[in-house]
Amino acid sequence: MAQNEAQHNFRTTSLEKKIVSAIDNGIIILDSDLVIHHYNKWMEIHTHIKEKDALGKKLTELFDTIKEKTLLRKVKTALRMQTPTFYTATTSHYLIPIKTNQIKNSFFSYMQQDVSIVPFDAQNQLVVLILTDQTNMANINALLNAHVAKIKELNEQLMREKELTEMQHKQLLANSRSAAMGEMISMIAHQWRQPLSLITTLLTNIKIKKELQTLDEANMESSLGKIENTVKYLSDTINDFRDYFKPNKVKSDLKLSELFNKSIFFLKDEMNQYNIEYTINIDKQLSIKTYKNELLQSIINIIKNSIDAFKNSDIEDKKIEVSIQEFTYHISIIIEDNAGGIDESILEKIFEPYFSTKNKNGTGLGLYMCKVIIYEHLHGEISITSENNGTKVAIKLPKKI
Ligand SMILES: Nc1ncnc2c1ncn2[C@@H]1O[C@H](COP(=O)(O)OP(=O)(O)O)[C@@H](O)[C@H]1O
Ligand SMILES: [Mg+2]
Repeated sequence: MAQNEAQHNFRTTSLEKKIVSAIDNGIIILDSDLVIHHYNKWMEIHTHIKEKDALGKKLTELFDTIKEKTLLRKVKTALRMQTPTFYTATTSHYLIPIKTNQIKNSFFSYMQQDVSIVPFDAQNQLVVLILTDQTNMANINALLNAHVAKIKELNEQLMREKELTEMQHKQLLANSRSAAMGEMISMIAHQWRQPLSLITTLLTNIKIKKELQTLDEANMESSLGKIENTVKYLSDTINDFRDYFKPNKVKSDLKLSELFNKSIFFLKDEMNQYNIEYTINIDKQLSIKTYKNELLQSIINIIKNSIDAFKNSDIEDKKIEVSIQEFTYHISIIIEDNAGGIDESILEKIFEPYFSTKNKNGTGLGLYMCKVIIYEHLHGEISITSENNGTKVAIKLPKKI
């Protein structure tokens, strides 16, 4: 189509022309063959092509990177439907190649564009192409994407680290449990010493009496009865231990005096062996709602540490004292001994897993386990201080969890 004809199809008043040239968008008027009928100032400035050189030429002649088929389809659709269509820019494809001023941190060397194709003159089959510079937006987007990718990566790294610490945590708990089991077995051994020797004595008596032929029916009966009772005691203790060392799934109302009596029951033989005096100051009726076995295990761990501390000491009046105070929403348990205390230099390490001053006799997991149980399971607090040659363990527990 000749240049004159093209101009003829698109008549504007000078005012309209001024407005169009003042717009900060590229404006091109095309017919359905992609021939240019108007090319505004913005286009001239950005493409360095004068309108007079563009008029009458096909847009694809000026810019050979345009996908002609796609553009034609969009133009025809706009005209046929009398509704705007869009030529969407992607980072690698844009309609008109316009070099950007290479600003720092820019992702694009060519202007990113949104192109709307608006039906303009149905009779002459004309559309207006409106080009909008989207480079800034695209830059922000690209920057955001880069950040998002970075955040994703950091997140993944964090998750991996979290998994690792969770695994270590689980491993530690498993180790703590076997340590607790070990302690339980050593406590059972203590508990069994006396009854086992009682059984041995009774059996020896029977044997001797039989040899001397002084064993009568009544004698036999009474000895067997005693043996039976003692065996029952042995099996009760082991069941008791087993019950108390299973983690509780449900919390229950718990009389604290009963809990402490139980802990003493488990530890009394060892305390007697070392002449340790045990006093407990507690309101018999005081009860809280919590996980019974977990609390008992913690208390046993703590009292066991006091007993351990007395083992190598020559203190005359060995004492372990428990006192419990009730407050509105919580109770406070204090367990104190006079076994020499803990050196200030190690006081901050005693809750760390595997920290022990007992060489082969300690696992270093007792207080770590107490801390995990009391904070994580029982929602309480534990602190240990050392003064006047003794150790003071303070536990704060909510009355209800
Ligand atoms: N009542 C106590 N008196 C003196 N030292 C204590 C007492 N309780 C804890 N400790 C110190 O804390 C350390 C860590 O205790 P714990 O975690 O139970 O591990 P373990 O008993 O296996 O050594 C002990 O090795 C000991 O040095
Ligand atoms: Mg211990």
